[in-house]
Amino acid sequence: MKHQNVLVLDFGGQYNQLIARRVRECGVYCEVHPYNMPVGEIKKMNPIGIIFTGGPNSIYAENSPSCDPRVFELGIPVLGICYGIQCMAHALGGTVQSARAREYGKTNTVYNTDSALFSGLPKEGVSWMSHTDYIETLPAGFEAVAHTNECPTAAMQHVERMLYGVQFHPEVMHTKNGMQMLHNFLYKICGAKGDWSMQDYKQTAIQDVRKTVGDGRVLLALSGGVDSSVAAELLSQAVGSQLTCIFVDHGLLRKNEGDEVEQVFANSGIHFVRVDAKERFLQRLRGVSDPETKRKIIGEEFIRVFEEEAKKIGTVDFLAQGTIYPDVIESGAGDAAVIKSHHNVGGLPDYVDFKEIIEPLRLLFKDEVRKLGEELGLPDYLVWRQPFPGPGLAIRVIGDITEEKLETLQDADAIFREEIANAKLDRDIHQYFAVLTSMRSVGVMGDGRTYDYTLALRGVTTNDFMTADWAKIPYEVLEKASSRIVNEVKNINRIVYDITSKPPATIEWE
Ligand code: XMP
Repeated sequence: MKHQNVLVLDFGGQYNQLIARRVRECGVYCEVHPYNMPVGEIKKMNPIGIIFTGGPNSIYAENSPSCDPRVFELGIPVLGICYGIQCMAHALGGTVQSARAREYGKTNTVYNTDSALFSGLPKEGVSWMSHTDYIETLPAGFEAVAHTNECPTAAMQHVERMLYGVQFHPEVMHTKNGMQMLHNFLYKICGAKGDWSMQDYKQTAIQDVRKTVGDGRVLLALSGGVDSSVAAELLSQAVGSQLTCIFVDHGLLRKNEGDEVEQVFANSGIHFVRVDAKERFLQRLRGVSDPETKRKIIGEEFIRVFEEEAKKIGTVDFLAQGTIYPDVIESGAGDAAVIKSHHNVGGLPDYVDFKEIIEPLRLLFKDEVRKLGEELGLPDYLVWRQPFPGPGLAIRVIGDITEEKLETLQDADAIFREEIANAKLDRDIHQYFAVLTSMRSVGVMGDGRTYDYTLALRGVTTNDFMTADWAKIPYEVLEKASSRIVNEVKNINRIVYDITSKPPATIEWE
């Protein structure tokens, strides 16, 4: 790779991905690797800087990760964050002590702005703290360059050796000017040039795919979601007619979604196969109301349909997958607890006759995948599509699923989305949709009594989909959506808006 590289060594903290994203947002490429990556490999990677992430509570705890002191001899700038600063201090002969109370949350912090790390910043500001241990004695040659009321060493530095540490989390947005601190580290200390751009990445990725694939045949399962669509477009621009995309339309997509995907890919010079499998899926889901059983059935059936179609093609050389970087990190770079257990329907290597897997997006974060999609010229409605669960509307029709209920939900959901878009809220609210509760209630329409379904609307704002706030959609927008839906969609006579956050609720209802 031509561009500069920063190495993020993962000590198991919950913000490891966030740190990497922030570095890339600063225009610098970085990779996350486990904290115990051998020094020889680090040297081979030739990074311009190294960042230690946060990690477990105490370096004195049993089995807590530690760093190889030889890292500090490489002449490469290092920034230790939270647990990372303590690791650095400990390894270089300083002492770390347990405080009586934990310092947690927004904390007023005083910075020495003569330090390159805090250059150009106000002398005081709020930082985000989350620690119990603190650095009691600095290692030889280090000086403290920030403090709080509780913590004498909120930051330290050894300028000649280019070693820096912060006790707080600059990557968390609650730290005022945190981005600027990371920017300072990268540009003023590591000598970053800011050479990570999507335009370059696109060119490199296309060339890489061509080199790997040669004149081989590639197969991709296309779900219509952002990742698989961007992967399809990238592969299509790289190897054109050598690519076959199988789009299993399970009939559980949002209104018109299947046609939209087909429109983009059907005439793009690749082999595009849309399998209309709605009947099969509905047949298997008939009478099933347990959410996990629905998920399982859909996952299994998806594999079966894909397998049948793939067999018609015969042997392929490469199976392509839209795996993205968070999946790669989550599946084992460090020791961080795996929180998410959702699986996208998609990766099916056991069932297809192929020689190798290619994952052209495996180094990209979600926002970078979107940028790449734009760079490749995909339409906005595909690139900016909100996350959509693999099992689709099956988990948004509560209880058992019928074709009629699905159509009702599709129509209502489409109106809600249209009104959100009309109000220009579609990029501010990160996920929004309708849920067909299977509850019925009494209403009155015209002169008659109705006994119809209650529809729930849901909108959330979130950074990571692991926690979320309910979106404060203006009343007028909700009012317009509500009145349009009851007027235009059959079988619905009542609409409610979900005002629970996650936790305690989840984003989806099932
Ligand atoms: P929850 O409901 O757990 O959802 O708060 C968090 C995010 O994950 C999506 N989600 C799924 N995605 N298969 C998926 O691919 C699933 O079974 C599934 N269930 C939930 C959900 O839409 C939200 O973005």
